[in-house]
Amino acid sequence: MSMIGLLSELAKAGGRIAREHFSLVKDQDITVKGSRDYVSHVDRQVEVELVRRIRARHPDHQILGEESSPGTVTAAQWEPHRPLWVIDPIDGTTNFIHGLPAFAISIAFLDAGQPRFSAVYQPISDELFTAERGAGLWLNGQRRYTSACNELDRALVGSALPFRFPEAHQDALLVFERIQRSCDDQRRSGSAALDLAYVAVGRLDAYYELGIYPWDTAAGELLVRSGGGVATDFRGSTDGLLQRRSIVSAGTQALHAALLQEAAPLLPWLDRAPFAATRG
Ligand code: IPD
Ligand code: CA
Ligand code: CA
Repeated sequence: MSMIGLLSELAKAGGRIAREHFSLVKDQDITVKGSRDYVSHVDRQVEVELVRRIRARHPDHQILGEESSPGTVTAAQWEPHRPLWVIDPIDGTTNFIHGLPAFAISIAFLDAGQPRFSAVYQPISDELFTAERGAGLWLNGQRRYTSACNELDRALVGSALPFRFPEAHQDALLVFERIQRSCDDQRRSGSAALDLAYVAVGRLDAYYELGIYPWDTAAGELLVRSGGGVATDFRGSTDGLLQRRSIVSAGTQALHAALLQEAAPLLPWLDRAPFAATRG
């Protein structure tokens, strides 16, 4: 089976589990991991299933999963010379547990620290976004591209606030307002993986967020680049994906540059807790 075939199979298998439980998750099924950070038994069940399937085919590969299932590694344990899978079993857990359909299974396969294949699957709309570095981006098997929007004042921009980190709210709201004044309008979906998938296929012109983790964006970044767009951290760098805490993505270079400039007041946070790069 091709790698894109394997990623597609994994994403759909995870999506089937999530779909079976959608709208059925009860309060007692939810655990609070941290401030405004929830996990349900479904997140764990999807991750365990993905790990089992990857292990069965590639016992020597490393897996980094948001829910740290048995057999997975942390960013600190990752060995750069070995292939690595980065998975978010359900991206958009808060939506999922509220019965909102904006959630996705996000899977990236990395070599030398950069995504080479990726899949993002939205189970409720049955939409599968896949990409292979250097080869292209597909939505349900059809070739797709980013939007050609070059100007911020015409752009529909996906955004999010660092909702788990109140200490950064004031600066984040300032940037939100700066962008709101300059763009067409902003959207907040609650799923970073879907925001990136939508930039990749041109539904959104751009998306930015402070406070993400590598599993939120590893797959989506490759989708955006493979559709012809740009995805970097707030400094404009594609390095250090496993320490990633910020993302700026756009369908065009010009729009990406404009957003980097608007988001600049948040740059000092990249050197401060809780966003400074760690090998945790
Ligand atoms: C979250 C979602 C959300 C984003 C957060 C992520 P989770 O992931 O992607 O849209 O704003 O930064 O942590 O917790 O639902 O997997
Ligand atoms: Ca996530
Ligand atoms: Ca998650």
